[in-house]
Amino acid sequence: MQPLPAINPSRRILLGPGPSMVHPRVLQAMATPLLGHLDPEFLAIMDDIQKALRWLFHTQNTLTIPISGTGSSAMEAAIVNLVEPGDAVIVGINGIFGTRLASMVERCGGQAIRLEVPWGQPLNPEHIGHHLKATTPIKAVAIVHAETSTGVHQPLEHIGQLCQQHEVLYIVDTVTSLGGMEVNVDAWHIDVCYSATQKCISCPPGVAPITFSDRAVHSIRQRQSPCTSWYLDCSLISDYWSESKRTYHHTAPISMAYALRESLRLIQEEGLEARIARHQRNSHALLAGLNTLGFELFPLASFTLTTLLCVRLPPFLDDLHARKVLLKEFHIEVGGGLGPLARKVWRIGLMGESSREEYILTLLSALEQILTRDYGQTPTGISMKAAMDIWNQPHSSLSTFPPSNN
Ligand SMILES: Cc1ncc(COP(=O)(O)O)c(C=O)c1O
Repeated sequence: MQPLPAINPSRRILLGPGPSMVHPRVLQAMATPLLGHLDPEFLAIMDDIQKALRWLFHTQNTLTIPISGTGSSAMEAAIVNLVEPGDAVIVGINGIFGTRLASMVERCGGQAIRLEVPWGQPLNPEHIGHHLKATTPIKAVAIVHAETSTGVHQPLEHIGQLCQQHEVLYIVDTVTSLGGMEVNVDAWHIDVCYSATQKCISCPPGVAPITFSDRAVHSIRQRQSPCTSWYLDCSLISDYWSESKRTYHHTAPISMAYALRESLRLIQEEGLEARIARHQRNSHALLAGLNTLGFELFPLASFTLTTLLCVRLPPFLDDLHARKVLLKEFHIEVGGGLGPLARKVWRIGLMGESSREEYILTLLSALEQILTRDYGQTPTGISMKAAMDIWNQPHSSLSTFPPSNN
């Protein structure tokens, strides 16, 4: 067999639902020499990662680690460790990822109590509170903070208080928010919180941060039956991450650990508050630009994510054609709609390194060119001007985006 030719990937501007752009320092870190997974130098890197993840999650939880795998592996780790056959779990569903959580609960033999609201809307905490009172016993509530399929931001704090009152575990998916929006694990009473590296952390996909509260760890220790996944059994994995044990479980993905450490270092250098403000400012600017071209926000403005905008297409725009031109001619990736939203919306990710003014201006300019050439419109820079107007506002007035949902 002839050897395969070398790969030569195009340089894309990644503005889809993930992966996002990766800083060159992260790629460089991945290309540094491998260490053994029990080498003292690697163990020090693991310690650094744990400390930085605790900082990012705003938690003191000891069991805070990256799972080897993508976001779905951390989702599965959350469910498979906590849910035993017969356990009832309230699952909030307003998009694809809530549905995935419910499916995982059922695969573990649990009963998923599906609280569904229409796509585009957040869950109502009162509704969850009602179910917590009416249905007993409930083991956990599982919800998605940032629903990537609809662009909806789910406020977390109130639901955390309810879970605490009812002594129910609280599982939260922050795959599309951690590192770009506020996530406050301890203050919001979250028991298991997981994410992924390829979104707002701006690291390639392959490891997935997760944190377990002491209450969650206690629940894992009290299981009646062994965890049905050997690979994701956190009672075993934690022995490798424990400074006093370092028991081999599986070979750690060394280069991904380097990459994650470097991405976390970049977040620390920028500062979390500044980073969150950058995501707010840039999503506001992009939305202002898109509005001038006929795109409308899909969720209510007060519940939009600032890491990913889900926007309805103007009626004249052909989804597949426009996305094809963006990719082929302008090297820009944006995401299409999923399920019932297919061909109706775009999901434009502005996560981590992708949330940059230059990419937003490039996207708006490309769209204006497509509208001019293929749809006979004459936008002549209005969208870029609208975005610039947002960036030129004093920082103090920008906290109004998204508008308060209180
Ligand atoms: C909210 C949410 N949860 C879970 C996942 C699954 O992550 P992965 O595709 O990395 O397995 C995704 C992926 O986009 C997501 O957006």
